[in-house]
Amino acid sequence: MTDRPYTLLSCAMSIDGYIDDFADRQLPLSNEVDAERVDQVRASCDAILVGANTIWRNNPRLLIRSQALRDRRAAKGLPASPLKVAVTARGDIDPALRFFTTGGVGEIVYCTTPAVAKATRRFGEAATVVDAGDPIGLRRMLGDLTSRGPAGYSSRAVARCRHSS
Ligand SMILES: NC(=O)c1ccc[n+]([C@@H]2O[C@H](COP(=O)([O-])OP(=O)(O)OC[C@H]3O[C@@H](n4cnc5c(N)ncnc54)[C@H](OP(=O)(O)O)[C@@H]3O)[C@@H](O)[C@H]2O)c1
Repeated sequence: MTDRPYTLLSCAMSIDGYIDDFADRQLPLSNEVDAERVDQVRASCDAILVGANTIWRNNPRLLIRSQALRDRRAAKGLPASPLKVAVTARGDIDPALRFFTTGGVGEIVYCTTPAVAKATRRFGEAATVVDAGDPIGLRRMLGDLTSRGPAGYSSRAVARCRHSS
């Protein structure tokens, strides 16, 4: 069996059970206190994973906001923010979006086998494109992430964190 990282799903939900609406812009569900909590959760992780639509729609930076949390990570020899990871079937996310252009430590884009060649050309130096199967296999993707995890630090990934900083 492939080693897989400890993975947690971070998702804000409205009191009536919704996580999104049909509008083109981000649906604000969190307040400032929750944003700080999410920052702490992020800071405890090695990687943060989002879907392609979230990157298009919310244009998140996915960085740690708090200088104190960034300093704490630096003291442990970790990069200031976790690795940013995207998943896309078609592989055509815009590399000019903030996910790719702000403070990254080598973003990873997992895409389907048929989209690998196109995505590799599209992202160039902006990200490492990894074949995740067809259809995308979550176990394969998480196994690959584990193999990239920093030695000596428990591998954790946050799935679907949408809170942009
Ligand atoms: N309330 C919250 O805290 C919160 C947090 C995160 C997300 N959300 C919402 O939850 C919904 C889902 O968000 P999400 O981040 O999971 O995904 P998403 O941003 O909606 O992305 C879906 C896209 O990601 C790619 N994708 C995702 N899973 C895939 C798979 N298994 N195989 C192949 N491609 C895959 C595809 O990209 P391509 O089309 O490029 O092929 C697909 O169109 C959205 O409405 C989002 O706004 C809410």
